[in-house]
Amino acid sequence: MQADVVLGLQYGDEAKGKVTHYLTKYKHYTHVLRFNGGCNAGHTIYHKGRKFITHHIPAGVFHGIKSIIGPGCVISPKHLFEEIERLKEGGVDVEGKLFIAENAHVITEGHLAEENKETKIGTTKRGNGPAYRDKYNRTGVRASEISALKPYLINIYEEFFGDTSVQILCEGAQGFGLDIDWGDYPFVTSSHCGLGGVFLNGVSPHWIRDVWGVAKIYETYVGSKSFEPDQAVFQSLRDVGEEYGATTGRPRQCNWMSLDLLQRNARFNSVNKLVINKLDVLRELGQWKLYHKHELLEFGSETKMCEYISGVLDNIEIFFSDDKNSI
Ligand code: IMP
Ligand code: MG
Repeated sequence: MQADVVLGLQYGDEAKGKVTHYLTKYKHYTHVLRFNGGCNAGHTIYHKGRKFITHHIPAGVFHGIKSIIGPGCVISPKHLFEEIERLKEGGVDVEGKLFIAENAHVITEGHLAEENKETKIGTTKRGNGPAYRDKYNRTGVRASEISALKPYLINIYEEFFGDTSVQILCEGAQGFGLDIDWGDYPFVTSSHCGLGGVFLNGVSPHWIRDVWGVAKIYETYVGSKSFEPDQAVFQSLRDVGEEYGATTGRPRQCNWMSLDLLQRNARFNSVNKLVINKLDVLRELGQWKLYHKHELLEFGSETKMCEYISGVLDNIEIFFSDDKNSI
């Protein structure tokens, strides 16, 4: 039994969807498991030349792999069924491929209504916080209680321990910078976005093979804290990088990469493979900068900056990517 993990090392939107899509295409998995979050997530995936945006549904469905929304997730039935419809319209049928853990929790209409206003931290308004709050308050609703979800329900114990040959790709949502415990509280999401979150879904630590950390060569953050320095270059970066939210359409605040944050988050999650995306965006911008040890460093070329990052993160295999279809 083996498991690989894909998780975000910044504030979400690192292009994890691309990495999961790539791995499911080139490696052999029996299952893809979404281990945290709800329909606050927005994964942009390019499949057979078409652009898809998924929220709940794991990327395994694109390759006919059993895809499970795990017990660490919260699900809005309304948004899930809309998503299933949209995938079908794009030629991707999820029937027989999509499953939901019986003990995952539900985002109710009440949760959605409660969050349908501006919040202090600028949430995605998808009822995520209220659903997790009620789960921990023991007043929540499990997926097993909802009739419309019955056809999709799965028992994780039987699924993972009934067979000795499971090979699971664990797909994270959001990023470790938004983690409920290790992010910049209260500007965080309500779930466990890191490696620890995987084990809460019934995956054994003994099965872990690779932990793929995903980052961008610059940072973006969506939410109400002040994040972007007041400089025109970041508006250009936002436009070149198409940094507008996949779920809410909000402009993402931009900044140069913090190598300190990247190193911390990679260490906390035992990352051994790292994909750094969107080099093409900085190339078009023509500036190569990052923060390290409280200083803003500027590099004369892309190669110099990549060499610097590789030198600091020398225990990790790094893949620098400049292509939205592949790594
Ligand atoms: P919530 O997860 O909707 O409660 O929002 C909490 C914070 O996490 C806000 O700053 C959101 O913008 C941010 N957030 C939640 N999901 C994502 C995501 O998938 N990508 C980027 N930011 C997200
Ligand atoms: Mg996203």
